[in-house]
Amino acid sequence: MPKNSSAHHILGIESSCDDTAVAVLDGQGQVVANVCNSQHDIHARFGGVVPELASRRHIENIVPIYQAALAEAGITRDDIALIAATQGPGLIGSLLVGYNFARALAMAKEIPFVGTDHMAGHILSIFLEEEKPDFPYIALIVSGGTSSIFLVKNDAEFCHLGRTRDDAAGEAFDKVAKLLGLGYPGGPTVAKMAASGDPKAIPFPRAWLAEDSLDFSFSGLKTAVLQYCRAWREDEPLPLADICASFQAAIVEVLAKKTIQAARAHGVANVALGGGVAANQALREKMLSLCEENNLRLYRPRPGYCADNAAMIAFSGWRKYLKHGATPLGEDVYSRCQLG
Ligand code: KG4
Repeated sequence: MPKNSSAHHILGIESSCDDTAVAVLDGQGQVVANVCNSQHDIHARFGGVVPELASRRHIENIVPIYQAALAEAGITRDDIALIAATQGPGLIGSLLVGYNFARALAMAKEIPFVGTDHMAGHILSIFLEEEKPDFPYIALIVSGGTSSIFLVKNDAEFCHLGRTRDDAAGEAFDKVAKLLGLGYPGGPTVAKMAASGDPKAIPFPRAWLAEDSLDFSFSGLKTAVLQYCRAWREDEPLPLADICASFQAAIVEVLAKKTIQAARAHGVANVALGGGVAANQALREKMLSLCEENNLRLYRPRPGYCADNAAMIAFSGWRKYLKHGATPLGEDVYSRCQLG
């Protein structure tokens, strides 16, 4: 595969949103470097990601982050046998920075390049851990851009069983944090505040949709939080901890129960989590207790592999390359989910 046959490392590059990330895997798929620069500082004051600012920051970051990853791995670019970069879905301006950097490097070094799907990266991120699930498994992927359930048949075949109808889970966390004045990104701040609140204090709605539906809708929940705040007496401070705990409990219950429903409906024994919201402790605990009750085995990547990272892109790109070969260098990036 590579021109230099002693080279066997896989380089992964992720720039789909507001993280510039570069990782290196060795020939066995072990992570030997995983570097990420998050842009929260520049987007925080806008309460969300500003695409133009994100792509400009990727341009500043990509070379130093790439160099830092090679240094962390203790390799030079001559040791790289394959380059994978996120092709989509994501912000086009952001994607183009990492994707074009990767293509240019592959051309210059005459090594194969593979364009990788960001969601496939999250679905397979559990393979970065020592304990790996057998196929098939159900994957719950929850991030700022999606709430999805997949039936993962093997490392290349994913069936999209349920998806976001409006606000994704992470988006709901971010919007609620914004309306409560808790800052961006909202997930970690809402979760922290929820830790001292009562999850049963406020009966926020759960959108189950049709009985057998595995889709998600969280915009009504977000509006319920807004209405609760508007109706609050102005002479007393808002019960922030109880609001956060009750809101989080509503999201977690729907995510967890629908994931179990998917596993049972498809007769699958293994369940895996992925995406930034999968770092949420309440979700991780609820999933564990429901999986135990239902005789299912749960696989949870560490929080650093749940959030956007380039190690998952290197891994899924490598698996895609083994099955389908290199991606033609003329292929473009894409903004919307293309899986199943
Ligand atoms: O996967 P990710 O890093 O980026 C993409 O959206 O692709 O996910 C980021 C999302 C944000 O919406 C953030 O608020 C949410 O994940 N998040 C959390 C937690 N940590 C990050 N949501 C709930 N609880 C957390 N602990």
